[in-house]
Amino acid sequence: MAETRTDLCAQLSSEHRVVLANLERLEAALERPDLEGVSRALAFFQEGLVAHRRKEEEVLFPALARHLGSEGGPVGCMLHEHRMEAALLESLRSAVVACRPGGGDSRRWIEAGMALVGHLRDHIAKEDQVLFPMAEQLLGPGERLEVETGMAAIGGCCPECASRGRPGDGGEG
Ligand SMILES: [Fe+2]
Repeated sequence: MAETRTDLCAQLSSEHRVVLANLERLEAALERPDLEGVSRALAFFQEGLVAHRRKEEEVLFPALARHLGSEGGPVGCMLHEHRMEAALLESLRSAVVACRPGGGDSRRWIEAGMALVGHLRDHIAKEDQVLFPMAEQLLGPGERLEVETGMAAIGGCCPECASRGRPGDGGEG
């Protein structure tokens, strides 16, 4: 079937698939439970997502906010969820660090990790299914060029994203 979404948000959606794959790794490590595996997954969420968040918060969201406003509404909601994501990441990081010296109680990092997994899956679904289609509809040619240029200037999300090459190359489904 032909891909109807243009390149504008395909790159962000492709990065979301990398995030979802890492969420599966995190979830598997939480279920074992395996603190080392959780730590490795946590490193991805702390470092590998920086460029992706910047592309959304510094480029796409401001362009959409010109049509939708930034207080409340879909853009405000996504920004709020990014702040929640940062708080959940911090609570997982602090739970992992607190556990390190003696192994300690695993419940805290398992709960923090599961909360992050649930939040990010919901958030990504909203962006992919609601916000990105809105962007495709609302943004005119000049704005699209501005968004594409801005995202290109920020660059790749992480080595895993970069290895996927251009959006639309496929990868896991
Ligand atoms: Fe995103």
